[in-house]
Amino acid sequence: MGFRQLFRKKDINTMLADLQAEGQEGHGISLVKNLTLRDLTALGIAAVIGAGIFSTIGNASAAGGPGVSLLFIFTAIACAFSALCYAQFASTLPVAGSAYTYAYTSFGELIAWIIGWDLLMEYAIGNIAVAISWSDYFTGLLAGVGLHVPAYLTMDFLSASRGFDEAEALLAGGTAFANLTPNLQAAHQAWANAPRLGNLPLVADLPALLIVVAITYLVYIGIKESKRTANLLVLLKLLVIVLVILVGIFYVTPANWSPFAPNGVGGILKGVSAVFFAYIGFDAISTTAEECQNPQRDLPRAMIYSLIICTVLYVLVALVLTGMVPFQELAVGDPLAYVFERVDLDFVSGVVAVSAVVAMTSVLLVFQLGQPRIWMSMSRDGLLPKVFARLHPRHKTPSFSTIITGIVVAVPALFMNLTEVTDLTSIGTLFAFVLVCGGILLMDSTGQHKGRSGFKVPYYNSKYIVPLLMVALIVLLYSFNQAGLQSFFSLSNGEEQGWDVFKHKIPMIGFIIFCIVITILSFLRNLSLIPVLGLITNLYLMTELGITNWSRFLIWLGLGLVVYFFYGNRHSKLNQAASSNNTSL
Ligand code: ALA
Repeated sequence: MGFRQLFRKKDINTMLADLQAEGQEGHGISLVKNLTLRDLTALGIAAVIGAGIFSTIGNASAAGGPGVSLLFIFTAIACAFSALCYAQFASTLPVAGSAYTYAYTSFGELIAWIIGWDLLMEYAIGNIAVAISWSDYFTGLLAGVGLHVPAYLTMDFLSASRGFDEAEALLAGGTAFANLTPNLQAAHQAWANAPRLGNLPLVADLPALLIVVAITYLVYIGIKESKRTANLLVLLKLLVIVLVILVGIFYVTPANWSPFAPNGVGGILKGVSAVFFAYIGFDAISTTAEECQNPQRDLPRAMIYSLIICTVLYVLVALVLTGMVPFQELAVGDPLAYVFERVDLDFVSGVVAVSAVVAMTSVLLVFQLGQPRIWMSMSRDGLLPKVFARLHPRHKTPSFSTIITGIVVAVPALFMNLTEVTDLTSIGTLFAFVLVCGGILLMDSTGQHKGRSGFKVPYYNSKYIVPLLMVALIVLLYSFNQAGLQSFFSLSNGEEQGWDVFKHKIPMIGFIIFCIVITILSFLRNLSLIPVLGLITNLYLMTELGITNWSRFLIWLGLGLVVYFFYGNRHSKLNQAASSNNTSL
C-alpha cells in the first residue's frame, strides 16, 4: 500500500455527482428535504442546551466561581471560529456526514476515517453522557411524586462501586449514614442492596437504557416526526431557561460574585470539559445537509444563530447561579433545580427538573439523528459495509445505522460513568473542530473552493495579527501569572517529582510548539485569520483536558486505525476505482 494512497482525496465535484447517483441507485429512495432555517436553528439549540447547562455546569461553577461565566464566553468564541469553518464546508458540500465528509475532500481518506471514528466519540459517547444525566433527573422527578426506583437500577456500576468504598471509609471513620452526601448514600444503597450474580452486584442504569431505546425508535420512523418533536422540545426548554434567569435575578445576592474568580484562573479552567460539553451540538446540524431545503444559505446561519442564542443564555445562567448561592454549594448534579430549592421556591425547582428531562431528551434526539448519517456517508465511500447506508423503504431513514447507533449508546449507558464520558466527548469534539478549521486552511491553499457559490469564511490576513497576539499573550502571562509560569518550568509539585510531573506538561508543550509553527506560517503565508484562531483556541481547550484524557483519546484513535487497515482501506470506493483503472490500462 502506497503512502499516497492513504491520502487519496475525494473531489468535490465527484462527491456531488455521487450523491445524485446514489439517489438513482436507491430506486428513488433518498432523504427527504424537509428542514428550513427555523427547523435547523431549533435543531441546533435542541442539540446544544442539555446536560451541560442543567448538570455539568454545577461542578464547573463550584471550582471556578462566578468567573466561569468568562469561560463560557471564551469557549463560545472558540466555537464561533469553528462554526464559521463548519459553515463554509456545509455550504460548499451539502452532503450528510459533517466533518467526516469535509476531511475527505481536504485531507484525504486516512484523516477522513480518523475524523469519522472520532465523531463516534462526540455523538455516541456524548449521548451516553446525556442519557446518564437524563436518568438522574428523571429518577429525581419520580422520587418527587413518590415513586422510588431502587438505587441499583438507576446508577452506573463504577459510580456505585467507588461511592460504596468512599461511604464505607467515612462510616468506618465515625460519620453517620444520614450525614453522607445524597450521592454517597445512593451509591452505598445501590451496591449493598443489588441482586448478585455470584459475587458480582448487578448495578445498572435502566432508565438511561430505556430513553435511548425510545429515542432510537423515533429517529428510525422518520426525520419529519423527529423535526416536529425537536421544535416542540426546544420551545419548552427555552421558555424554562428564560424563566430561570428572570426569576433567579430577583434572588441574586451581589456579594456572592465577589471574589469573581475565587480559585484563580486554574479554578476556572477546571471547568473546560464541562463548559465545552455544554456547547457541543451546533455542529451536529451539518449532518442533516441532505435534508435541508436550502443548505447553502440556511446551514451557516442556523449554526451561528443557535450559538449566539445559547451563549447569551449560558452566561446569564452562570451569573444567576453563582449569584444566588455561594459557589461552593453548586457541586451537585442538578444545580439549576438546587438553587431554587435553596431559596424555597420548590415549585420553580420542580419546573426546572421537568424541563431538564425535556432538554436532554431533545439533545439525545439530535445526536441519535446525526450519528447514523455519518455512518451512512462512510459506508457510501466503502469505508464501512454497505448495509450502513441502507435506507428504509417507507421511513426513508438510514435504518440499519440507526439501530446500531441505538445499541452502541444504550448498552454502555447502563454501565458507564458520567465524568469520564463527558471528558471523552469534549476531547473528541475539540479534535473534530481542529480538523475542520485546518481543513479550511488547506482548502484555501489548494484553491479547492474557488468559483463555488455559498458561504465563505471572511478573509482577514493573519500575517501581523497572529504574531502580535502571541507577543501580547506572552506579556500578559509574564505580568499576571508568574506563579503559573514558575510551576510550568518546575519538575516538582511538592508531592510528585520528575516524570510524574513532566507527563502532565506534555499537552502544553505540544501546544506551545504548535503556536510557534502556526505563527511562522501565518507570517510567511498570509493565512486566513479565523481558521487560525479556531485552531489555536480549540487546541488550547484540548490542552486543558489533561494527559489522562489525551491517552484515552489516542487509544481510541489507535483502535480506529486498526479497523481502517483491516476493512476501510481495502474496500474504499476510491481504492476500487483506482484498481479498476489499473486493470483496464
Ligand atoms: N451540549 C449538549 C449538552 O449539554 C451535548 O447536553
